[in-house]
Amino acid sequence: MPFDNRIKVRANGPLLCTGDIEVFGPDGQLLEEADDVVLCRCGHSGNKPFCDGSHREAGFVHNGLPGSVTSDELETAGGPLQISVRENAMLVAKGPMSIVGADGSLAATRNKAALCRCGHSANKPFCDGSHKKVGFKG
Ligand code: FES
Repeated sequence: MPFDNRIKVRANGPLLCTGDIEVFGPDGQLLEEADDVVLCRCGHSGNKPFCDGSHREAGFVHNGLPGSVTSDELETAGGPLQISVRENAMLVAKGPMSIVGADGSLAATRNKAALCRCGHSANKPFCDGSHKKVGFKG
């Protein structure tokens, strides 16, 4: 992979984030700083924004293959990937990253991405605003 920070979309499961990862809560508080973080994208975790395995019981289904997505030109591979939780909405990831499908193919390189965590986007793993329609809480 060309960049250090990577978000791999797992089929029927979470976002596997590796690299220099920082996760912030809705109030900006640092929740996690690690080189390996697993984030819920099904909307059912009891430990949001982290995956607790509830996607299996919830029967979450998505092949983990991103649809059409544009890439950003990245000037550097270095620096942290900061992922912030938006209350009752998406995850906002900022920093150099590659987004990889469940089959291992590189879908995009980005400096910023809004990622679905309600499980209802029609453009997974990206947010399409569906959290509002479904009244997502979390
Ligand atoms: S993706 Fe695992 S609990 Fe939601």
